[in-house]
Amino acid sequence: MSYVPVGAPAKRLTPRAFAAAKGRAEPLVVVAAYDALFARLAEEGGVDAVLVGDSLGNVVAGYDSTLPVTLDVMIHHGAAVRRGVSRALVVVDMPFLTYEVTTERALLNAGRVMQETRCDAVKLEGGSEETAATVAALVRAGIPVMGHLGFTPQRVNVLGGFRVQGREADEADRIVDEAKRLQAAGAFSIVLELVPAAFAERVTAAVAVPTVGIGAGAACDGQVLVLADLLGLTDGFKPKFVKRYADLAGDVRAAVRRYTAEVRGRAYPDADHAF
Ligand code: KIV
Repeated sequence: MSYVPVGAPAKRLTPRAFAAAKGRAEPLVVVAAYDALFARLAEEGGVDAVLVGDSLGNVVAGYDSTLPVTLDVMIHHGAAVRRGVSRALVVVDMPFLTYEVTTERALLNAGRVMQETRCDAVKLEGGSEETAATVAALVRAGIPVMGHLGFTPQRVNVLGGFRVQGREADEADRIVDEAKRLQAAGAFSIVLELVPAAFAERVTAAVAVPTVGIGAGAACDGQVLVLADLLGLTDGFKPKFVKRYADLAGDVRAAVRRYTAEVRGRAYPDADHAF
């Protein structure tokens, strides 16, 4: 008997296979993307996983933080990304206050994300004892969880802004404890955001699950960047860790300028583009 549904892609990366990549020579490659079009292009570019990050609040919805992003919005984008990819792991962020209030609410909300997007896993921020208990409950219910430590954008207001974490000894020790706690709770991977490279190496050595770094140096087991950042679509403020591999913002403006000029000059549509 086969458990592979008729027509299903033969090989889709699972959270378990993602976790098994810990310690391999080649780092895991993850991008944050928010729609089927860009997720498909990212998969064709060879990524291992697409994270439907709540960074979509800043990147595509025009908010100044991730806090206004709702569960319904994440489900809408998660389902779109899922439709765009067939092989890559799809992880959907649980947005602000959808998993902190009670474990029961976290289970129902994460369950909706899994059922309505058909993603492979959810990601949630923080590593307190309460959060770890929630992670354990989700995993027990069959929901794979990716953790997120270091700078956790949903707590930007208590962290005092977009600030490197883990520089002070007590803060660093706390983050290491949180990473171990998330691992014990069953998280299959942990994002480490905006921490010193040497500290990310310490966290990576402290846990048996892969760390995925963003602004965390080269020692992590994987790297994640927001796709729009690496494509140069977001051409305003650029954090130090972002490397632009293209200048699509410039290309978009130039293309739209040409289109605008051609329409106004009645050069478009010409005979070749009309019936
Ligand atoms: O929301 C997001 O895109 C993220 C990544 C930056 C890790 O959480």
